[in-house]
Amino acid sequence: MSPRRETLNGGDAPAARGDEQPRPARATEADGQGAGRPGRAAAAGAAVAEPAGTAETDAPLSAPSPDSRLVDTFAGEQDLGLEPSLRPRRLAEFVGQSQLKERLSIILEAARRRGQPVDHILFAGPPGLGKTTLAGIVAAEMGAGFRITSGPTLVRTGDVAAILTDLQPGDVLFIDEIHRLGRAVEEVLYPAMEDFQLDIVIGKGPTARSIRLELPKFTLVGATTRTGLVTGPLRDRFGIVARLDHYQPEELVAIVNRSARLLGLDLTTEGAEEISGRSRGTPRLALRLLRRVRDFVEVRGCQVATLEEARAGLDRFGVDELGLDHVDRTILETLCLRFSGRPVGLSTLAISVGEEPETVEDVYEPFLLKAGLMQRTPRGRIATEAAYEHLGVDIPDTLVQLGPLGFSASRGGGGASRAPGRPPRLFEADMDEGAQEAPEAGSG
Ligand SMILES: Nc1ncnc2c1ncn2[C@@H]1O[C@H](COP(=O)(O)OP(=O)(O)O)[C@@H](O)[C@H]1O
Ligand SMILES: [Mg+2]
Repeated sequence: MSPRRETLNGGDAPAARGDEQPRPARATEADGQGAGRPGRAAAAGAAVAEPAGTAETDAPLSAPSPDSRLVDTFAGEQDLGLEPSLRPRRLAEFVGQSQLKERLSIILEAARRRGQPVDHILFAGPPGLGKTTLAGIVAAEMGAGFRITSGPTLVRTGDVAAILTDLQPGDVLFIDEIHRLGRAVEEVLYPAMEDFQLDIVIGKGPTARSIRLELPKFTLVGATTRTGLVTGPLRDRFGIVARLDHYQPEELVAIVNRSARLLGLDLTTEGAEEISGRSRGTPRLALRLLRRVRDFVEVRGCQVATLEEARAGLDRFGVDELGLDHVDRTILETLCLRFSGRPVGLSTLAISVGEEPETVEDVYEPFLLKAGLMQRTPRGRIATEAAYEHLGVDIPDTLVQLGPLGFSASRGGGGASRAPGRPPRLFEADMDEGAQEAPEAGSG
């Protein structure tokens, strides 16, 4: 593609390289449904040169999530066939995250001018916000090859050595869930990232010797849903650490509209807004809900997805107007009703909703916290006033008197009677704004 690529590779790149990929985005669902593993198609639309020992590269994409959750933000099997075709391939097509995009475009432009690979980049943020997509975009914008692997699949140091020695100059190596890398594998990465060198130990015991291999200059792009779990030494070796945030409603509308166009679905503005409003600030979810609406509309034989259709379709699939599904609601009911508002520990909460504690923590909690429906306190999880309101149940009197648990101490009576029809506002600002709502509502 790019001139740089030509010189670097002598025009001799293997067939499955990412620089072959800037083909037009296809709106077919046939992508990834071939004989191969579905995950290959998830590689941001890039043909994945699958390195040795990473046959399971796609496994983590669907990893810690429960199977059939419509609002699950991890990519499920069902999405893998569809997502690649809707995935933006260029920075210009990527909606939202404007600050991050601007920085990225500067870095990419500078690297292009210098004729060097981009510095290593770490993308951090909740699932479904576009980390994998951005990694693919970095490769595409640089006209570079794109290799995908993930933390949990790189078990042995030999795995990572095989991948590294197979890289071409300028390649983008994407390691998803990089916080799940083992210690030994991580230590192989340090000199590789810093000096493009690979130290290999051959043999065992007294006869063991270490040889050093020069690696081509490459870009490592890491993605993590848990920045806190990325070790300090690894994090320090990334030139850029970029955080992705939940999307604003109008950004989601833009994403939904773009995808509806690609899918050939006639969607009204109100329909798009309804889908966005229920998608928890998460593009992956917005796209999944869009597909459910499309199914609904098709089955009903309608031509246009209107507000009513979107509403009816999403209700039918158990996603409420805040984007909560039955598990989210069960969590809130557990907090509000079963434990009558007392703080609940993570493991207790997990047991009562029949999930693993990690799943509750990684998959369910982030949104409930973000939406101001739940709080974490030193003594455990509690539901906020907004949660009682959303469930339509009364706040226990004991809690109202206690005050500090996310409720305004000044409110009288036990009724959850804040201005009806006024749901907590999501994603309009950060949590501070949500926090200001409590006193305001209590005095009314
Ligand atoms: N900014 C965006 N604009 C358009 N589509 C997006 C955007 N971010 C994510 N998507 C879509 O959402 C889905 C999930 O994105 P992905 O990059 O796989 O998320 P992550 O890797 O962070 O879990 C993809 O299908 C992608 O096409
Ligand atoms: Mg991903």
